[in-house]
Amino acid sequence: MEEMLKGLGIDELILKSEDKLKVLSIFSDKIKDCKKCRLHTSRKQVVVGVGNPYSDVMFVGEGPGREEDIKGYPFVGKAGRLLTEILEELGIDRDRDVYIANVIKCRPPGNRDPMMDEINACTPYLDFQVRIISPKVILCLGRYSMYYVLNRMDQPKISEIRGKFHVSRYNIPATATYHPAAALRNPTLKEFIKKDIDMVFKKIVERF
Ligand code: URA
Repeated sequence: MEEMLKGLGIDELILKSEDKLKVLSIFSDKIKDCKKCRLHTSRKQVVVGVGNPYSDVMFVGEGPGREEDIKGYPFVGKAGRLLTEILEELGIDRDRDVYIANVIKCRPPGNRDPMMDEINACTPYLDFQVRIISPKVILCLGRYSMYYVLNRMDQPKISEIRGKFHVSRYNIPATATYHPAAALRNPTLKEFIKKDIDMVFKKIVERF
């Protein structure tokens, strides 16, 4: 991590800064030409994150899809619209109450699953974002995020993980739910996602 920060030219001074927006904006700028894996050859842009970096809750998705690649923000396509709808039904404001990032920052061609070497190349960026945002709770959206954030290379099912909190690789409580794209294919999953998001936000209330 420290090596990566040096490589990006983000120095100690900035890391100590309270200005998360400024740090993230410098960070976005530093990684916009990233060529650490093959995905740089097919992506339109690096999709870093969206939302309120001062929020207590961070969502981690998988990787950008077609619309995210075009617009430059996570979860702005069909799955993202479903996520926004669920949040609204719970009275949660997407821009104010959550910060959203992905495990990988560039779109895999044809929205295929990310490959292990792509995840390995990209996750120092997620690690950095978590360090800056320092959320109180992380919700993983989908399998790849869960494998990485919960450090579960044994690849459990979402159903084995959801509904309770686990210790993440960041030592921050985390849980996982189904990816909103899965709920587009199987609408019965929407209620599970809603329940899981509700549980995450209730945990924040509990802590105060
Ligand atoms: N799916 C994800 O996992 N992330 C996005 O940003 C969009 C779709």
